[in-house]
Amino acid sequence: MIRETTEKTPGNMTFQLEQRDIKSKSELYAHLSAQLQSLFEGEHDFIANAANFSSLLYHSLPEVNWVGLYLLKANELVLGPFQGQPACVRIAIGKGVCGTAAELKQTVVVGNVHEFPGHIACDSASISEIVVPLITSGELIGVLDVDSPAFNRFDDEDARGLNELAEVFLESSDFKL
Ligand code: SME
Repeated sequence: MIRETTEKTPGNMTFQLEQRDIKSKSELYAHLSAQLQSLFEGEHDFIANAANFSSLLYHSLPEVNWVGLYLLKANELVLGPFQGQPACVRIAIGKGVCGTAAELKQTVVVGNVHEFPGHIACDSASISEIVVPLITSGELIGVLDVDSPAFNRFDDEDARGLNELAEVFLESSDFKL
């Protein structure tokens, strides 16, 4: 888990990774929500916050191998800040898990990506996936994509938790590309 150092000075904000005894997913997501709010305090730059958002999730969520954003540009999803292996850059709306979540404007949870028609394989280690649409003022601006090397890694609690974290990110970040 992540622990923020108590000393935080402008231009010198340090976070340390540490293992914590977190007992439930709801506890984990509540903890991450507090960490995100602290990370974003006084900072509204969209790309910077998106990069820190990806990093926090990648290093804090158990059993994930890729976390990142795809951002809507000229009616297609384009790779944004992420953590993990290099990934495909452009995804059409309606294609793959990301494009499906974008088209439906709904969270899509896939327990086994090999059974998802049209799944786009970026990292061969990925087995299950969750994609959360990023919606601000009713407009889709992109998606948050999280991949796992485990079957059925994500459930309703992850969907709820990641949607809440996405909300914290969007509320703290000025969307301007
Ligand atoms: N698997 C995704 C593509 C993005 S990568 O997982 C990073 C999809 O089917 O949309």
